[in-house]
Amino acid sequence: MCGIFGYIGSKRATPILVDGLRRLEYRGYDSTGIAVKNGEISIFKKVGKVSEMQSILPSNIQGTSGIGHTRWATHGGVTEENAHPHASSSGDVVIVHNGIINNSRILRASLVAQGVELKSETDSEALAHIIEIELAVDNNPEAAVRRTLQKASGTWGLCVLFKNHDVIVVAANGSTLEIGKGDGEMFISSDGPTLSEFTDRVVHLHDDDIAVLTATSITRSSLKGDRKSVEVSVLEKSWGEADLGEYEHYMLKEIHEQPDALRHCISGRLDRVRGNGRLGGLRLSPSALAKVPHVRLIGCGTALHAAEIGQLLIEKLARIPAVTHIASEFRHNDPVINPNALHFAVSQSGETADTLSAIKEIQLKGAQVYGVVNVVGSTIARQCGQGVYIHSGPEQAVASTKAFSNMVVALTMFALQVGRSRSISKEKGKEIIHGLQQIPHLIEEYLEDVGPIMEAVELVKDAKSVFFLGRGISAPVAKEGALKLMEVAYIPCLAYPAGEMKHGPIALLEEGSPIIFVVPNDHVKEKTVSAIHESKARGAKIILIHEEGDEISEEGDVNIAIPKVHPLLSPLLTVVPMQLIAYHTALALGNDVDRPRNLAKSVTVE
Ligand code: AGP
Repeated sequence: MCGIFGYIGSKRATPILVDGLRRLEYRGYDSTGIAVKNGEISIFKKVGKVSEMQSILPSNIQGTSGIGHTRWATHGGVTEENAHPHASSSGDVVIVHNGIINNSRILRASLVAQGVELKSETDSEALAHIIEIELAVDNNPEAAVRRTLQKASGTWGLCVLFKNHDVIVVAANGSTLEIGKGDGEMFISSDGPTLSEFTDRVVHLHDDDIAVLTATSITRSSLKGDRKSVEVSVLEKSWGEADLGEYEHYMLKEIHEQPDALRHCISGRLDRVRGNGRLGGLRLSPSALAKVPHVRLIGCGTALHAAEIGQLLIEKLARIPAVTHIASEFRHNDPVINPNALHFAVSQSGETADTLSAIKEIQLKGAQVYGVVNVVGSTIARQCGQGVYIHSGPEQAVASTKAFSNMVVALTMFALQVGRSRSISKEKGKEIIHGLQQIPHLIEEYLEDVGPIMEAVELVKDAKSVFFLGRGISAPVAKEGALKLMEVAYIPCLAYPAGEMKHGPIALLEEGSPIIFVVPNDHVKEKTVSAIHESKARGAKIILIHEEGDEISEEGDVNIAIPKVHPLLSPLLTVVPMQLIAYHTALALGNDVDRPRNLAKSVTVE
């Protein structure tokens, strides 16, 4: 959720920390702060984004080590006092923390009983004070952090700066921290890929790890105190730039990157001769696939919607029962797990705590989980150990767009691969492959002429609420459209399978209520048209997403045409106008489209 960046070396730390935090800002952006050591430790923090904190920085802060943080509030309001870094009473120990200290109330109460004055409402601050108390015992930073964390329960990515020691001590437990190894300098980040701007050599911290960093050395040990080896790996570069380029916003850039992102995802993974998918990372033989009893998919938000489309495709093409679960509910429902079933965890960031907990629950009950993940080497990718990278490239906007498309395509290729080992013919397989290969070009074609998006924006931007309706494979696409508009435009949106409308939600319709209907040319089109008529009869204004040249193309008040597409692959086209409607509505309302209020890109708390 929060972003952590740290530096120890010979260069001025401040610009490096600011640069690192900018790259991490998408993770959380309620407030920002840095601590830089130059004899004393100076702390600068501010409610708001990195740029706002930067505006209060003196021009020439010296000091070659420091730690920084962007916050997404969990304990305590969005205030300067609650922003990180947090200092001990003397100011000799300063920390930044990502995660949640579950027993913070007990730790805080015990500190207050010892006469310590707490300055914030956070769960994190207690750690700084306890480390200072422990440091007084033996003046050993590593041991002081270890003894402190042995008293804590919860999750942490923790960085500690000491006034009187030229080290940074870091620790991880259930919250990612990576060390970037430079020449005579070390970087720390809560998001491995951001280190690629600084170095290509990284050390992953595992759960219960503590590491002591100097500019030239890393000493790693366990929470218990056993020494551990330091394994340096090479950071894999993903395709695509993390910068804005010619675009005004990341969301628009990423919508436009979808064709190339899809090309990267399918590249080398389709066997045109055999009409089959070739997802090597799954390491599943055709005979193993043929015996799979059922498939379960888990995810949150956009990843969940992609999983729901995957579920329908798996049932359709592979004829295996498939079911999707909301990750945050999964482990609390004590699910029955069949070790022979296939389980997929779908996640862009690979850091989502709810998804990670669901994976651990499945693994605990004896089954394997396959990751469908974007960020290479992320926690979920490592926890699963097998699966499919979706290769979307860096996704910076909080509202996910290109990752959604690539998740859908990855799951389509899987459905095809299982389908070919069980039920569908080579010809049917070739037809789907042909359809998949057309998609990038069809999206490009649509993006060249997006149709009356701004007319749709006019209908929704001042609405009390907006309905999104579709049937069959378009029902989850409607949900995704609703999530996008809610996230960036802050308009309440309701998404339903179109046939469900008449069972209750239709009561909400008033003269002029906007409804976005997703109606590709598939076997449920006629049924959806009935729902359009029922809604029109009650005064609704219809925004219709349809295939070009279709006989229904005049049914809406605003009609947006997408190119003709294979019926099973229509989500990859129908979602794009809804992404654009969300984007332009947010702009029309003056919202921060890339950093919508209250949200964060990777949600690392349950
Ligand atoms: C998508 O626009 C959202 N920001 C959010 O719902 C997101 O999809 C969800 O938090 C899951 O994230 P993940 O894919 O990184 O696991």
